[in-house]
Amino acid sequence: MDQSHVIVFGSINMDLVARVPRLPVPSETLLGYSFTTVPGGKGANQAVAIARLGVPTVMVGRVGGDRFGQELLSGLQTAGVDTEDVLVDRAQSSGVAMIAVDDRSENHIIVIPGANGQMEPTDVDRLSRRLPGAAALLLQLEIPLPTILLAAQAAHAVGVRVILDPAPARSDLPAALYSLVSIITPNAIEASQLVGFPVTNRETAAQAATVLQQRGVETVIIKLGAVGVFGATPDESFFVPAFQVDAVDTVAAGDAFNGGLTAALAAGLSLREAVIWGAATGALSATKPGAQSSLPDRATVVNFLSQRQS
Ligand code: RIB
Repeated sequence: MDQSHVIVFGSINMDLVARVPRLPVPSETLLGYSFTTVPGGKGANQAVAIARLGVPTVMVGRVGGDRFGQELLSGLQTAGVDTEDVLVDRAQSSGVAMIAVDDRSENHIIVIPGANGQMEPTDVDRLSRRLPGAAALLLQLEIPLPTILLAAQAAHAVGVRVILDPAPARSDLPAALYSLVSIITPNAIEASQLVGFPVTNRETAAQAATVLQQRGVETVIIKLGAVGVFGATPDESFFVPAFQVDAVDTVAAGDAFNGGLTAALAAGLSLREAVIWGAATGALSATKPGAQSSLPDRATVVNFLSQRQS
């Protein structure tokens, strides 16, 4: 793969994961099977996914001055991510995500932002120093929206492609953000929140893509889960069917998709090929438990694609 680096500007969490027979209903106490702590956070997961696929990756974000912060930093470094611009915010605790995963591999996630919630213009200053020569800036929505907007403006101003994973779902993105985004990658729920109508299939995904393009986004990639991925550029639309796998845990499957897509684009593959890389990376992630613990390396993705595409 080509050596241009990718920058991920976003959240870093410790995931507190309970395995349960089924997800609890309100007011219910449930006995679970097991508890683990696993490095996560949408930003950090995407950075690890890209680094494992062999693309130089810079993470810009914050961890707290606690034990989790040190573990999260060392997890990123072990995966090969450049953490020079991850700030240790000693006044804060690290972001955590409380996750329940059931027997059907469905999950509930509650995120407490901690240090991620303090990201502000000085973090964008650190990002700006890393932008020259970058292949892409990858953003998510687990840090404050005004800071996300500043980061997108900084990248756009120097011609670095902005990729936005609009997760977790929300409907209040600033209007100015859309025209700074080259590629947006919602899943069906996130797309529904953004456009205000249910996105459930290829037809409604195409309608949602049109709305998002009218707001200023260039390319829309909508993940339709086990169905596949719908893509719309200014010139064409296309559909990539999902890879069928035995899923054990879909936590971070969306992050893996974004990592695969971005790594492939950074390596010079076409958009459609990059979507296939994203779909393969996401499918492989769903076959293993946990967030960063589930992300495949490049050889695994290459091998999977050669088996599935032959
Ligand atoms: O996308 C999965 C991630 O969402 C988890 O790792 C958790 O930390 C939350 O950010």
